[in-house]
Amino acid sequence: MRVREEFSRSAAAYAQYNVIQKKVAQRLVGSIIDSPQRILDIGCGSGTIFKAIDWEVEHFVALDFSEAMLLNHPLSKNITCKLADFNNAKAFRTFSGRFDRIISASALQWARDLDAVFGYIAALQAPVSLAIFTCNTFKSMYDCAQLEPILRCSDEVIALAEQHFDAQYEIVTYTLAFKSPREMFRYIKKSGVSGGRRVLNYQQTKQLMREYPHDYLEFEVLFIHN
Ligand SMILES: C[S@@+](CC[C@H](N)C(=O)[O-])C[C@H]1O[C@@H](n2cnc3c(N)ncnc32)[C@H](O)[C@@H]1O
Repeated sequence: MRVREEFSRSAAAYAQYNVIQKKVAQRLVGSIIDSPQRILDIGCGSGTIFKAIDWEVEHFVALDFSEAMLLNHPLSKNITCKLADFNNAKAFRTFSGRFDRIISASALQWARDLDAVFGYIAALQAPVSLAIFTCNTFKSMYDCAQLEPILRCSDEVIALAEQHFDAQYEIVTYTLAFKSPREMFRYIKKSGVSGGRRVLNYQQTKQLMREYPHDYLEFEVLFIHN
């Protein structure tokens, strides 16, 4: 599957390139005030969420479908790394006991059927803190290339989430500036933000690098919290 390949390939470089994901994780964890003890982190990557947590946790389950990402996740006796695909209901059936909170940062935008995945999460009956990239991510770049965004828009994600969670919603926009177009495009490739979806061929990428009028990229993130 392309998304998994992309994340496995970029696993080593991810820690260097995940500037925005780090900000997202810090904001998400910063909004949690009840110091949950039993946590499930969906699409944990190399542990940005675990590293942002500043209280002692009893048990942390780190779930990801990329072995390479999990190999970079912190290890300790209270951490269980679980290799599983969140698109698959089975991934959520094997937990013993309840979680105090379910966290997911910068991962669920790649859900094949987000409604179904929200359903699997809601069935675990725990409070949630979710951050999901939405369609205005890379907006200026998509506009310049006259392409449709590949991510779901925030209103669509909110409409789905409302069917499963009683939650608050917040949309946050980040911008990241680059020294050169080359650096910008390298970032897109290495950060895993493109999720393996190659929307431009080589020539189109070259043209976009020449014509893109800004030195920054935008990121739009929907935070869902209860
Ligand atoms: C952009 S990274 C975010 C990692 C981490 N949560 C963070 O905040 O830095 C997205 C992660 O989601 C994982 N992922 C994507 N699709 C997945 C799926 N279907 N099942 C499990 N993990 C998935 C990727 O392997 C990757 O580690």
